[in-house]
Amino acid sequence: METVSDLERLFATAEDVLAAAGLRAGQRCLDFGCGHGNYTIPLARLVGPAGEVLALDRDTEALGRLAERVRRVGLENVRTLFASGEPALPLADGSVDGVLLYDMLHDHYFSPEQRAALVAEAARVVRPGGRLSVFPRHMTDRQIARDVIAPTRRLGFEQADEYHGPVVHDDGITEGRILTFRRDG
Ligand SMILES: C[S@@+](CC[C@H](N)C(=O)[O-])C[C@H]1O[C@@H](n2cnc3c(N)ncnc32)[C@H](O)[C@@H]1O
Repeated sequence: METVSDLERLFATAEDVLAAAGLRAGQRCLDFGCGHGNYTIPLARLVGPAGEVLALDRDTEALGRLAERVRRVGLENVRTLFASGEPALPLADGSVDGVLLYDMLHDHYFSPEQRAALVAEAARVVRPGGRLSVFPRHMTDRQIARDVIAPTRRLGFEQADEYHGPVVHDDGITEGRILTFRRDG
């Protein structure tokens, strides 16, 4: 059972991770594969009322749970979007300041080809100077190098930050690694 203090500790940890990724007040960000929002809610708090979070998932139940949590904590800057499951985002090129790909690129969901297409699609919507932040949970170093680091470099991103420390995973806090890339320009 989630107590208010457990949940706030979870959200505070996630907000620290997002701040380390260079995300800031006033930004418009996409949480791709948001689940029930353990990073969406802290991101919405971080970007504040002048910013916006687009929370996208193909799981309607998770999106419903997220919408209920957003309502309970009183946030008005989260828009939930249903994803078809295809790596095609309903967003224009360069239209967001930041994209999260957190704990969603693993083999459970994607083949290497699908993963590469999804990373490219996420990169497409980041504005020049914006950030693509990846929590590569359940991925091998080889997969991270081949399917995340190499394609982002090819697409004009350079690594801006590598965070090691407490992260939120599966409704708990554990140690993890977050890689953040910045788009040239
Ligand atoms: C393990 S959860 C991670 C949730 C959240 N990002 C987090 O770190 O707490 C992975 C999420 O990715 C979503 N997902 C998987 N494939 C997807 C796709 N092709 N498009 C959108 N969401 C997808 C799943 O439905 C699930 O909610």
